[in-house]
Amino acid sequence: MRTIESLGSLRSRTVIVRCDLNVPLSEGVITDDGRIRASLTTIRELRDAGARVVLISHLGRPKGEPEERFSLRPVAARMAELLETPVAFVAQTVGADADAAVTGLGDGDIVLLENLRFNPGETSKDAGERLAFAQQLAAHADAFVSDGFGVVHRRQASVTELAGVLPSAAGRLVAAELEVLERLTDRAERPYAVVLGGSKVSDKLGVISHLIERVDTLLIGGGMLFTFLAAQGHDVASSLLEKDQLDTVRGYLAEAERRGVRIVLPTDVIVAEAFAADAAHETVAADAIGRSSFGAAAIGLDIGPDSAAEFARVIRESATVFWNGPMGVFEMAAFAEGTRTVAQALTDTAGFTVVGGGDSAAAVRALGFADTDFGHISTGGGASLEFLEGKQLPGLEVLV
Ligand code: 3PG
Repeated sequence: MRTIESLGSLRSRTVIVRCDLNVPLSEGVITDDGRIRASLTTIRELRDAGARVVLISHLGRPKGEPEERFSLRPVAARMAELLETPVAFVAQTVGADADAAVTGLGDGDIVLLENLRFNPGETSKDAGERLAFAQQLAAHADAFVSDGFGVVHRRQASVTELAGVLPSAAGRLVAAELEVLERLTDRAERPYAVVLGGSKVSDKLGVISHLIERVDTLLIGGGMLFTFLAAQGHDVASSLLEKDQLDTVRGYLAEAERRGVRIVLPTDVIVAEAFAADAAHETVAADAIGRSSFGAAAIGLDIGPDSAAEFARVIRESATVFWNGPMGVFEMAAFAEGTRTVAQALTDTAGFTVVGGGDSAAAVRALGFADTDFGHISTGGGASLEFLEGKQLPGLEVLV
């Protein structure tokens, strides 16, 4: 992987940096600035080396045209605060205003361009269109630093094509994330436990089948646990269930048994009468969801206290733990305890702990944990999962 050093002296050179500044916003206010903070190491280094820094990123999933709610403007303001340096913002990605802002930069100056995905070329399926957009982006730049780890699994103009148009290298965040993920895949110390949550089994199929060959224990929480319980023949009432995945899940359970891998499913869950913060709720045995006070209306929204304690015990005894996906609907206080207990256990263990994915990272911060409480918090959700699945990531292949 080419590093920033391979680009030579960057003084007075215009360096375009692909970051992943895709942060959650609520009415224009950033609710979790973790991805901005994670981008600062590379930006500071380039600024201090006298480069003229042009930052590019996407935010959300606009469809190739501007939409004010996906503007990066609030990100520029937050970045300026964190860097204690002015960060200019241009409400355009390519065009006369962007050209003027980029060519007007002095050594050490920083500008953030508007959301890449306001331009159809960024996410086009047509390689020629992506290349044309990458060439426009590169027009006034001397080098490209790829540091948006969260998007390296995407084949998009600013991730893949741009690296071929300019001298390019991986930024410090991409390098740091890779180091951790390689440690998890090639050199994980045993016992190795993986905690998976989140709503859908179908999003995690690849990673589950890959991990069954590599880990000692797989702990399953979140909405996807109900498909596992149903696969074991339990009635899950109105809980989230992906019926089309039942056979696949049965296959995983059988495969895990054959390999001697423990799949730990919750023995109790918290069910509610409705999907609402103030809904009536109670704890029931995992095989008795259909017999709760709410009958067929019962919806499982968190793992129960016994299960959370058991998950915590396994985590504390592990030398390596990777966690992706909340255990329950942590945004609602009544259903946040499972996620909190798992997060707490990760912070207590002496082992190497990695929190992967936007949701899980936001969950631990929302629950009051600090980034430094964990071995590593990955900025990549899909990217870290695809890496752990053993897939080749296009945004990394172009940097080798
Ligand atoms: C993420 O949030 O996982 C990254 O920013 C990638 O976003 P995307 O899934 O919209 O490509």
